Amino acid sequence: MVRNYRSSAILIALGALLLIATPSCRADIIGDVLGKFFPPPPPPAPAAPAPAGLNPWFYSRSCPSATAWVQNMTSTIVASDRSMAAAFLRLHFHDCFVRGCDASVLLDSTSGNTAEKDALANANSLRGFAQIDQIKEKLEEVCPGVVSCADILALTARDAIVEIGGASWAVSLGRKDGVVSIASEAMSGLPSPFANYTELTSTFAEVGLSEKDMIVLSGGHTIGVAKCAAFSHRLYNFSGPGAINGTDPTLDADYAKFLKRKCPQGSPLIEVFMDPTGRFSGQTFDKGYFTGVKANRGLLTSDAALLTSSFGAQTVALEASANSPFMKDFGVSMQKMGAASAPNGAVLEVRKNCHFQN
Ligand code: HEM
Ligand SMILES: *[C@@H]1O[C@H](CO)[C@@H](O)[C@H](O)[C@H]1NC(C)=O
Ligand SMILES: *[C@@H]1O[C@H](CO)[C@@H](O)[C@H](O)[C@H]1NC(C)=O
Ligand SMILES: *[C@@H]1O[C@H](CO)[C@@H](O)[C@H](O)[C@H]1NC(C)=O
Repeated sequence: MVRNYRSSAILIALGALLLIATPSCRADIIGDVLGKFFPPPPPPAPAAPAPAGLNPWFYSRSCPSATAWVQNMTSTIVASDRSMAAAFLRLHFHDCFVRGCDASVLLDSTSGNTAEKDALANANSLRGFAQIDQIKEKLEEVCPGVVSCADILALTARDAIVEIGGASWAVSLGRKDGVVSIASEAMSGLPSPFANYTELTSTFAEVGLSEKDMIVLSGGHTIGVAKCAAFSHRLYNFSGPGAINGTDPTLDADYAKFLKRKCPQGSPLIEVFMDPTGRFSGQTFDKGYFTGVKANRGLLTSDAALLTSSFGAQTVALEASANSPFMKDFGVSMQKMGAASAPNGAVLEVRKNCHFQN
């Protein structure tokens, strides 16, 4: 069983609790949180082969204006708030890693069930739900019941990256939406920011993605932000080999200093751009993430972990190089990620409202 997002959620929950706890009761709190809030998740659903029939022209007869609407609405949204590009990219990623790309991440919790979006891995950190609703409403107006929520997520991710200067890729379409969304599956299916290289590799393998895909897709962190809670253990509470006063020795010293200024102890909710290579780097789609990681400026433990395997270090160096293949590689791996299919036998439909099954 690989370490997964459950462990990060535990740390984030602990971080929040520690803010209000006195030192003497901290050990008790840790035991309580571990035991009560995190029963073992069910085993992940087996990956099925990519569904036949996905293709970029899927809606060319049934809704010829669908892709144009998604494109021009995404473009408008991202033009008025560049940070939305990161939000859309992450939504598609978090969708595809749990039950395949079936928009399960958009389903709401019900009285008897906590949905993926409310799992600790997603709650208060996934963004863009209202904007996806806006696009879906338009498509329901022009072609009721035709365009799936899962396809909208795949298209907005691509269109948003193009809007901020990334290269395009073809998005195959024809996904259907699931009717099941379970918080514990998000915790077990999503990679943890505390994961090592081996753990990351197996989490990606669960969705049919290679080590190369894992490294290239980590380049998604060239945009967007992470909260201090996701990495402050590397600044103040690192106890691994070579720790320097609680600081992770694999973190570049100047970068560590910068991060300590940004994230004073006990400030888990402050946000920091994950790509530190330039003033606007966190909102520009470029190879900056890889030049950062190569220079020991990977923000998360999982980013730094890419350097701990020789294949990982070589691939990071290649993606960071002057003739970086990042733009092309990213599109190729996004197409693979976007082909992750729902479990065999899953009930699928085109949801009318992305929040609910029909
Ligand atoms: C390799 C394993 C990965 C781990 C452990 C990981 C973990 C994280 C964490 C902890 C955050 C910060 C969340 C927060 O503090 O609110 C984050 C943000 C983000 N991740 Fe990842 N991630 C991984 C892979 C990916 C992939 C494959 C993509 C897309 C291709 C991606 C795209 C993003 C984006 C765009 C953000 C910023 C979101 C925003 O600004 O709202 N990540 N990730
Ligand atoms: C967006 O695309 C649709 C479909 O092609 C078109 O009807 C509409 O006028 C476009 N809107 C804008 C603002 O470009
Ligand atoms: C990665 O983490 C797993 C599980 O925590 C552990 O068993 C393994 O030894 C670690 N691998 C490396 C290379 O540190
Ligand atoms: C630091 O780590 C130790 C052991 O890993 C843990 O008991 C303690 O609560 C952590 N402190 C903070 C402030 O996170």
